[in-house]
Amino acid sequence: MAMTLSKLKKMHYNREKIACLTAYDASMAHWLDVAGVDVILVGDSLGMVVQGNLTTLPVTLEEMVYHTRIVQQGNSKAWCVADLPFMSDTTLEQTLQSAARLMKEGGANMVKLEGGARVIHAVNALSDLGVPVCGHLGLLPQSVEKHGYKVKGRDEDSSKQLLNEAKQLEQAGAEMLVLECVPSQLAKQITESLSIPVIGIGSGKETSGQVLVLHDLLGITVGKPPKFAKNYMLFSESIQQAIENYVAEVKAQKFPDNSHLID
Ligand code: KIV
Repeated sequence: MAMTLSKLKKMHYNREKIACLTAYDASMAHWLDVAGVDVILVGDSLGMVVQGNLTTLPVTLEEMVYHTRIVQQGNSKAWCVADLPFMSDTTLEQTLQSAARLMKEGGANMVKLEGGARVIHAVNALSDLGVPVCGHLGLLPQSVEKHGYKVKGRDEDSSKQLLNEAKQLEQAGAEMLVLECVPSQLAKQITESLSIPVIGIGSGKETSGQVLVLHDLLGITVGKPPKFAKNYMLFSESIQQAIENYVAEVKAQKFPDNSHLID
């Protein structure tokens, strides 16, 4: 049975953990789907792990449409979220057109866009048009040139701001939220304040689910992997088993453990 938005919301409500992973092509999407991954994210992280760039900024909408389309060739059940890449959401009209391409040509089930106050208007409009939207708060990879790769929400002001932005995104119609590199206590508070699933990365174990970049899980990231990631190939005999072990550990709340905290 294919994953749906209402099933994902029910999982959040029932505190059943959601396992999410990135994929960028049909073969890997197939094996993620077979392993029981609930949500596949076609992340613009492909700019780094597939294309070899230092950041996600060079990724184009055309490339996101292409990778989403080939992921969906290999996926049959998992809910597929596709990233709106850097500068593809600068105006409302551009955002709607970019989202339309990811859904119509790429076959995405949902689009993800980074930011808080900046994107509220667009989230409202997309939601009104029937487009499922995933927000993305905390560390925003598309803003690294300005803000760097830093944990967000450590002080009182920024943690209040993150909580408010999360609530505003839900009110505007967002149906899911990715929280990246946020202290675990704040991630817990945000998750408990929302009725939509919150998928954490580097944000502790108290979110509705977890996401990792596939290359980090497979131990094939070039350079140093992030502290919050885990190389599942170290104790698995195959890629398939590594993905299954990740899904099992997320569901059993064994991943992440304290060694992956970046608080
Ligand atoms: O692009 C991506 O892979 C992401 C994850 C890091 C959440 O946005």
